[in-house]
Amino acid sequence: MKFFVDTADVAAIAELNDLGMVDGVTTNPSLILKSGRDILEVTKEICGIVSGPVSAEVVALKADDMIAEGRKLAEIAPNIAVKVPLTWDGLKTCKVLSGDGFMVNVTLCFSANQALLAAKAGATFISPFIGRLDDINLDGTDLISDIRTIYDNFNFTTEILAASIRNANHVTQCAMIGADVITAPPPSSKASPRMC
Ligand code: G3P
Repeated sequence: MKFFVDTADVAAIAELNDLGMVDGVTTNPSLILKSGRDILEVTKEICGIVSGPVSAEVVALKADDMIAEGRKLAEIAPNIAVKVPLTWDGLKTCKVLSGDGFMVNVTLCFSANQALLAAKAGATFISPFIGRLDDINLDGTDLISDIRTIYDNFNFTTEILAASIRNANHVTQCAMIGADVITAPPPSSKASPRMC
């Protein structure tokens, strides 16, 4: 299972990367805002530190605007994965950008059928938010399990990127179920799950 780090904290990324713990990075507009830095500048710096995929999220809501924004983000570096929300416009954007040859991370997935749509739209990664399902008294890891079954049934190559990881059990469960990737905040973060 691959480890992505969910942060825009360049120092934390560099430290974990030196340990060989970073297979990729996920960012979002809140994390970029927290870094206090320009999105293009900080994302470029992260892409220079890690060799794996670095997710950079669009903020536009309409497909045409998302596509333009996604193409601009993808110009930052070859290891950019454009992150789009799992909305109808996000799926349209995924189809176009994956057709262009860019990696696309479809985020905010809360159901197996949504994951199926994302795979059919050519997503490189699907990001189910397991902690947020737990928050509403559902079992987020059940969703990971359902998506694993569906993707394996039909040989979809979209990677399951378990997000909204909140605790060590989530990590263990994701590894046992066969999630391809988990993304979690760095250990220095107050929001960090206890990984071990
Ligand atoms: O990767 C998703 C993450 O940034 C959101 O996590 O804990 O706010 O649900 P959380």
